Amino acid sequence: MQISGSLFPIFLFLAFILISGASSAHNKNDFLECLNLQFQKSNSETDSIYTAQNASYSSVLQSTIRNQRPASNSRQRPFVIITPEHESQIQAAIYCSKKYGIQLKVRSGGHDYEGLSYISQTPFFIVDMRNLRSISIDTEKNTAWVQTGATLGELYYTIAEKSKTLAFTAGVCPTVGVGGHFSGGGYGMMSRKHGIAADHIIDAKLIDANGQIHDRESMGEDLFWAIRGGGGTSFGIVVSFKVKLIVIPETVTVFNVTRTLDQNATQIVHRWQYVADKIDDNLLLRLFLRSINSSNGKRTIGAFFTSLYLGPVDDLLPIMQEKFPELGLVKEDCTEMPWIESTLFFAGFQGESPDVLLNRTQVSTLYFKGKSDYVKQPIPEYGLKSIWKFLNEEDVNRAELQFSPYGGIIDDISESEIPFPHRSGNIFMIHYSLGWSEEENADSQRHINWIRRLYSFMARYVSKSPRNAYFNYRDLDIGMNKIEGNTSYKQASVWGFKYFDNNFRRLVHIKNKVDPTNFFRNEQSIPPVSLW
Ligand code: FDA
Repeated sequence: MQISGSLFPIFLFLAFILISGASSAHNKNDFLECLNLQFQKSNSETDSIYTAQNASYSSVLQSTIRNQRPASNSRQRPFVIITPEHESQIQAAIYCSKKYGIQLKVRSGGHDYEGLSYISQTPFFIVDMRNLRSISIDTEKNTAWVQTGATLGELYYTIAEKSKTLAFTAGVCPTVGVGGHFSGGGYGMMSRKHGIAADHIIDAKLIDANGQIHDRESMGEDLFWAIRGGGGTSFGIVVSFKVKLIVIPETVTVFNVTRTLDQNATQIVHRWQYVADKIDDNLLLRLFLRSINSSNGKRTIGAFFTSLYLGPVDDLLPIMQEKFPELGLVKEDCTEMPWIESTLFFAGFQGESPDVLLNRTQVSTLYFKGKSDYVKQPIPEYGLKSIWKFLNEEDVNRAELQFSPYGGIIDDISESEIPFPHRSGNIFMIHYSLGWSEEENADSQRHINWIRRLYSFMARYVSKSPRNAYFNYRDLDIGMNKIEGNTSYKQASVWGFKYFDNNFRRLVHIKNKVDPTNFFRNEQSIPPVSLW
């Protein structure tokens, strides 16, 4: 057959598509065969391998997805999900992934805001840690080993079963996974008194890019530093963390007080900024802001002061009267309870049994976009009023700003102690979020434009050079790696300094040492120097 000159490039292109399609199918089959073989070699059952043909594939994939937005935009689905029960199965997955060039994604709780644990632009498979979730508590040494497939709810429940005065400082949502959460920081209702989850990691078990298993001693202090806040994915698969537990009083006090614009919400929120990071460390006054309907049916702003005090109400009230009388807190607003019940209160399960913390599979149909900022100078009242206008542009209760206060012990820890750099000088962190349903997804671009406009407006009030962001509230808008080919230091710096400040440089050097071929990677993983 003769091909004319003008058709030759088209022929070449079609041939490339056919060959690469066939070779990718070929690789996938070989990869599967490899997995089966490796599992058999280590006497592992192969029923923890789910291909798309398996009846449970979709339910396993969906079960921990909290945000449907990334999956709805992604063309690729994982062609295999494995749910290892032994470390040897993770080692097998790494071996076969390398051999056949199929990208590995690791998922613990599946709460990544951009879905990076379960979507990819290139053919991939998931190592889902759900079966590696044992928790063992040592009440004499006040420590716990927790496998990364456990959820925060399971951790809190297990600690409370063993002790009334031990707890752990981490996030509010019980279905968040230990694997992603501890790796990126872990802020919660006790963070002003006790810091973030990553501050309390004292050992870890990690499988590196060569499939080798390490503890703190064998991985060395550089790598151990990196995995305490340097973000999931980049450095290996963490199988478990050992953490120091914290000692708490048997009784804590919670309250959730709402003020609307008619009740001086603007002035009170303004005042909150001068108080929230300086008040008694035992008190964390978190603030949620939404556009709501007032009792007369008119739109207003609801400022929800949702707070935890580590102690009895009689100790809390004088503190509030002295430092924040503007809120007008009274005893009737407050409830005393054991710490474990407070975790239910903040997760929206007030009055339910703690057993609800063990429920891992709350399937979510929500589509959402989140972003974050750090505030170092109070936002003036006219700035707050402009934020109210933005909130009123969206439907009632659709958009939310969370103001999470810093200060307390967070101020006392050096910025370079662990990779999480957001320490002294920050009054509070803003979390912006906006959610919609499947039916409303056709309008998703309008919602996303709204949150981007608000973010752009907020630039004048938040941290600058870099404009900091919280890694665990992952946001691909602030920059990402190249999908194909190697990402340079300059490209990764665009997002890297925002999350990690100057710690980004050290993270890059550690990555270069432990994973120079960039085996563990995603759209916001640390790139190694060797590939620039
Ligand atoms: P997921 O499994 O999606 O993993 C997140 C990232 O870590 C991915 O890149 C993944 O590949 C990687 N990873 C996961 N397991 C790993 C492992 N074993 N080894 C190496 N890498 C691993 N944050 C906060 O600080 N305070 C809070 O109160 C909340 N609340 C909250 C509520 C809700 C509803 C959501 C959706 C999220 C939060 N978060 C939060 C944010 C949360 O901390 C963040 O999304 C975590 O990364 C989630 O960890 P998962 O293991 O659940 O996610």
